[in-house]
Amino acid sequence: MENKYKGIGELLMTSRGIDISGFDSSFVEKSIGRRRSVCNDLTNAEYLEFLKANDLEADLLIDSLHVSYTEFFRNPLTFSCLEQVVLPLLLAAKVKRKEKSIRIWSAACASGPEPYSLAMLIDELNCNHPGKINFQIFATDNNLPELSKAEMGIYPPNSMTKVTVKRAQSYFSMDGEQYAISPHLKGMVDFSYFDLLSDSRSCPEPSIYGNFDLVMCSNLLFYYQPELRLKILKKVEATMTPGAFLVTGETERDFLLKNGYQEVIEYSAIFRKRYQVQKP
Ligand SMILES: C[S@@+](CC[C@H](N)C(=O)[O-])C[C@H]1O[C@@H](n2cnc3c(N)ncnc32)[C@H](O)[C@@H]1O
Repeated sequence: MENKYKGIGELLMTSRGIDISGFDSSFVEKSIGRRRSVCNDLTNAEYLEFLKANDLEADLLIDSLHVSYTEFFRNPLTFSCLEQVVLPLLLAAKVKRKEKSIRIWSAACASGPEPYSLAMLIDELNCNHPGKINFQIFATDNNLPELSKAEMGIYPPNSMTKVTVKRAQSYFSMDGEQYAISPHLKGMVDFSYFDLLSDSRSCPEPSIYGNFDLVMCSNLLFYYQPELRLKILKKVEATMTPGAFLVTGETERDFLLKNGYQEVIEYSAIFRKRYQVQKP
């Protein structure tokens, strides 16, 4: 992290136990810059003093550094490629190999719209191929309040703008002004805590052994410095079966392309794990 934010980084570490030293510097700069401008354009030094004296400001800064924005079907091109190409391909390959289940991991699920969007696609696919394959969806995050929201499954109208009327009617009920996920969809997703940067576990505990056919790792890499992005990607890749698919966010595609990953369909932000060629 740049020296000018060292004091703020140390304060967050000592007072809140939050380590931002691995965060991408332009992300930290933007987050702090936004807070400074809301606080009457304080200088960095003035802002640090203000933070020391003001617990509420520390909460607001931490909120802005833990961006957990999400929505259903966030990147429409990605979800349409998943619906029309990737999920049918996975299903056909499993049927051919007489395998019984497709395992999916949403690795930074925030309050849940991403894994629930996948669950809707899978439920629709299963209606056309009843009973053949069992889909398991594991969803994790390192933010416990977001995980509680995911388990509650209650969403404001602004997270629903990309949900079709048909899906809204099939998979939600109204709870006042809010949309509540159906018990059927809730039953398809297993939520748990998992920190992608921790070395203590290689995959989410409920999944036992990983072996995922599809991993969504979207809109979190940009938080981190390049070394940590690669560390997360390597960790995630190690949980994937050969030929499995990896999905990132739109803004993260470039980073993967520059690091030798190949996109399955251009601009889809969907990549494929290479098959290892067996040496004779
Ligand atoms: C912007 S949200 C993305 C949610 C969803 N994947 C999407 O694309 O809409 C980023 C999420 O990444 C989570 N996150 C950040 N660092 C993480 C880490 N080291 N391990 C697990 N989750 C992390 C945050 O808590 C947050 O909920």
